[in-house]
Amino acid sequence: MKIMCAFGTRPEAIKMCPLIKKMKEYPQIETVVCLTSQHEEMLQQVVDIFQLRVDHNLHVMKPLQTLTSITVDILCGMKPVLEQEKPDIVLVHGDTTTSFAVALAAFYEQIPVGHVEAGLRTYDKYAPYPEEMNRNLTGRIAELHFAPTELNRKNLNRENIFDHVYVTGNTVIDALQTTVKPNYHYKDRKLMSIQLDGKRLMLVTAHRRENLGRPLKDICEAILEITKKYMDIEVIYPMHLNPRVRETVEPMLGRNPRIHLIDPVDVEDMHNLMARSYLILTDSGGIQEEAPAFGIPVIVLRNETERQEAVDAGTVILAGTEKRKIVQIVEELIRDRDKYQAMSRAVNPYGDGHASERIVSALLEYFKGKV
Ligand code: UD1
Ligand code: UDP
Repeated sequence: MKIMCAFGTRPEAIKMCPLIKKMKEYPQIETVVCLTSQHEEMLQQVVDIFQLRVDHNLHVMKPLQTLTSITVDILCGMKPVLEQEKPDIVLVHGDTTTSFAVALAAFYEQIPVGHVEAGLRTYDKYAPYPEEMNRNLTGRIAELHFAPTELNRKNLNRENIFDHVYVTGNTVIDALQTTVKPNYHYKDRKLMSIQLDGKRLMLVTAHRRENLGRPLKDICEAILEITKKYMDIEVIYPMHLNPRVRETVEPMLGRNPRIHLIDPVDVEDMHNLMARSYLILTDSGGIQEEAPAFGIPVIVLRNETERQEAVDAGTVILAGTEKRKIVQIVEELIRDRDKYQAMSRAVNPYGDGHASERIVSALLEYFKGKV
């Protein structure tokens, strides 16, 4: 049974690597890895940590790439790879343009697609943009759907997708088991040099397309205000390599001695940094799922979320991107110890770290007698 895993960005890689590792334990499965490299450096960091053997690499990344260029380059690049490898199934992950374009390329070759992290929805076409439509379209193409939670399964059912839907948990929780270590020492030099001196660490990330421009400026203003009001807060912001993120963040936050702007750190450094944080402010999807596993409250810098189960469980608060609202929510958590503790102790809804096993079992069951 030949399974191709195709992905191209940092979060897809972090969530696909534990699954690939698991598949390699089964002699009846041949795994082929194809990177689109929609991301380059940020993807390579993950490939290095998980010591992943790569079979194909499309190298599509361009500075200031457009959704159109990514889609077209992946469609053209995947065709010869699929023709050569002829996999029994192609696994894609999540909602990036890589996920959708690879699924479409596989469909054109009449190769079944398995969708890992299926069924997340906001029901707002433009939020997050273009991810909501990417995952909808990928879901339409896919034959097998690996839904992290029961809520995700219900979302798929609502779209009349009932067959081959498996509730598995999220593979990101599997990843944490290999990256988080006690007495961990950071590898990143800049991270290593930051002295917190007993101060509380507020970790920040923001990169979403719909937050670029004004919303990101508001987020930066909120961060400045929080550091001004609370002298014992120190901020670390590993900045996405997108120049459009940096052109806003660097001039606004770069001169404050208690705000540390650093390059993206590798996933081991990141997970261990998260574990040592007091609070996390982010518009990232993956971080909303990981942080609760460490008991760290997350303030989501978005107006909607496809991770409603985290809001319901009380592990994240949806703040939006307005300065006043962000500052108000952070202040409440700083002042109200009980509220902080309640968030910190809430149970993570994303699984038990065995999602990869469940996905492999479902694949074996699906292909029984077929290949
Ligand atoms: C992409 C995904 C988004 C995901 C995010 C994870 C789409 C449309 N968006 O958004 O869903 O949340 O990845 O981070 O699929 N760049 C580099 N080096 C890198 C990575 C990016 O220089 O390793 C720069 C390039 O200039 C690139 C730009 O960042 O053009 C934007 O990258 P792109 O993949 O288009 O968008 P993201 O915001 O990263
Ligand atoms: N991450 C990382 N290094 C960083 C910032 C984030 O390894 O400097 C990890 C983070 O822990 C999570 C993933 O990257 O696992 C989230 O990726 P991102 O925020 O880029 O994408 P999203 O999840 O929003 O699609």
